[in-house]
Amino acid sequence: MSDTNHQTTPEAGVAVSCHGLTKTFGTGNAAVKALRGVDLEVRSGELLMLVGPSGCGKTTLISVIAGVLRRDAGGCTIFGQDYNGLSEDATTEFRGINIGFVFQAFNLIPSLTTAENVATPLIINGMKPRAAVSKAREILAQVGFDERMMGSLPTDLSGGQQQRVAIARALVHQPRLIVCDEPTSALDGETGHKVMELLHTLGRGEGRALVVVTHDSRIYEFADRITAMEDGRITQVAGSASELKGMQKQGD
Ligand SMILES: Nc1ncnc2c1ncn2[C@@H]1O[C@H](COP(=O)(O)OP(=O)(O)OP(=O)(O)O)[C@@H](O)[C@H]1O
Ligand SMILES: [Mg+2]
Repeated sequence: MSDTNHQTTPEAGVAVSCHGLTKTFGTGNAAVKALRGVDLEVRSGELLMLVGPSGCGKTTLISVIAGVLRRDAGGCTIFGQDYNGLSEDATTEFRGINIGFVFQAFNLIPSLTTAENVATPLIINGMKPRAAVSKAREILAQVGFDERMMGSLPTDLSGGQQQRVAIARALVHQPRLIVCDEPTSALDGETGHKVMELLHTLGRGEGRALVVVTHDSRIYEFADRITAMEDGRITQVAGSASELKGMQKQGD
């Protein structure tokens, strides 16, 4: 067994800790500084929302936090683990166990049924397919899927249903950190609300945390804290949507 499982002893109450994080894409004249020194802490048990204009670095930041992208400089630990101390294989293993990622574009595998899609993270982590599909069905029932929908292909589902499958897949292996990129952007208000309720209910808990990137002010009410980004930096941290609004007015 490698030490990427649950062997780290993070600072109590801290899920994610980033300091002076930088990331540049490209070189020379074509270089884009996507992260210009990000300091961010996500506490254990909280749902943190990340807001900000298009291109300010939100997806880049959560990709670094999720171990999908390597940072250039600065520090970043996830439950006390620094990806820089891990090989590629160990990073993949750490991610497979500890992280759930909800992509904006769902990224479901078109040739697999709903239940098979949701079972994928468990199979990758070594569970036998039959047991994994059975576990997947349990969580799909929790997100309101019936037998018929569990056997459907993603193309036979609505956008809201596909989003629920993507969320079930991100939650099925009970990761300690869930990162979601615009989980409600393709949904109507009511479905978006339901999706957030699911994340809020199933994804939070002691020793766990969620980071949700959004442009959707209708879901701010689900946040424990809201962090605003601009031009590769964190500019504001607020305890609620109304506090964030007040801070933005002061800044005008
Ligand atoms: N793979 C890449 N190669 C080159 N530039 C990139 C790459 N990914 C992101 N960028 C650039 O980095 C900056 C930050 O991009 P990022 O996708 O993190 O923004 P964002 O805040 O998620 O925007 P949006 O709200 O539109 O999704 C942008 O200028 C973008 O063009
Ligand atoms: Mg983005």
